Amino acid sequence: MSLRDEQGDLRETLESIRIEALEAIQGAADSESLEEVRIRFLGRNGLLSRALSGLRDVPAEKRPQAGKKANQVKQTLETALERRVDELAALSKPAQTAGSDLTLPGRRQWRGGVHPVTLVIDEICEIFGELGFTRAAGPEVETDWHNFTALNIPLDHPAADMHDTFYLDDGLLLRTHTSPVQARVMMEHEPPVRILAPGMVFRRDPYDASHAPAFEQVEGLAVDEGIDFIEFRAAIDYFVHRFFGPSTRTRFRPSYFPFTEPSAEVDVSCIICEGSGCAACKRTGWIEIMGSGMVNPAVFEAVGYDSERYTGYAFGMGPARIAMLRYRIPDIRLLYEADVGLLEQFA
Ligand code: PHE
Repeated sequence: MSLRDEQGDLRETLESIRIEALEAIQGAADSESLEEVRIRFLGRNGLLSRALSGLRDVPAEKRPQAGKKANQVKQTLETALERRVDELAALSKPAQTAGSDLTLPGRRQWRGGVHPVTLVIDEICEIFGELGFTRAAGPEVETDWHNFTALNIPLDHPAADMHDTFYLDDGLLLRTHTSPVQARVMMEHEPPVRILAPGMVFRRDPYDASHAPAFEQVEGLAVDEGIDFIEFRAAIDYFVHRFFGPSTRTRFRPSYFPFTEPSAEVDVSCIICEGSGCAACKRTGWIEIMGSGMVNPAVFEAVGYDSERYTGYAFGMGPARIAMLRYRIPDIRLLYEADVGLLEQFA
């Protein structure tokens, strides 16, 4: 055999080792057979070292070249082995899971919950439901007639921009309160009427810790023959005791709304400090929860009710503020930014 041939033989041997080994590595189905492959090709007495013993027969000047080829093959095989180890580890993961205790109860996943403001709205509706109120709804895009005129607020009255309204085209606007639902319900139904209308309202307010340009309100309206202020107070007291607890006190403060006469802001004794004064109630011991009053006869006239025959009361409250108080949520923006850390706390 010529020297040239010997070197050629070695190259060929290395090449076939390379091909055969790569196939075996890829074909190894588990770590044990992979280890066998490693020993067969790269072990101390493996095919590669045995082939390398042939280097001795290669003439000295050609040896470096043949050595280089041998090292390349070795390197290729080691890399392929490492990659196959990783692949097999990844493949065996499901098998490991299958080996865990499947009789253990599953870990419950949080599948979403009811938003705290919705919880408050539902509870308000439930309590007033016990007094015979049912739910009503109206559109968020309103006419200026329903939002202002029918409610005894002339469009040139400061009250119309007091609300800092988002106006749309053609006498349409984003409702600034849920009170237009009063007008819609009365236009459609004869008394007696007892409704609650929860929904979103819109004002050009800043967006900060205590204001949002879109927020919820719950409107209440009761109209019948013979409804007086005493019945109104009794209904509000019933609600306050059921919602905030029996020891909560209620205070009616004179106020003004064009659609109620007389009008009152309803305060409750602070549910955090129980009236002794804290940051939440600005040291007054009281927290305002709604605007309210006896329905102004002008509103009955606007919707076609007999204002001599019927009386009623109306109120509007902000469930977001109530939710913040009740659940001690310090910033209103947490309610509107889908903060999962906050929402997860509500079942
Ligand atoms: N609509 C009033 C507001 O948004 C609240 C209110 C409703 C007052 C019903 C009286 C009667 O401020």
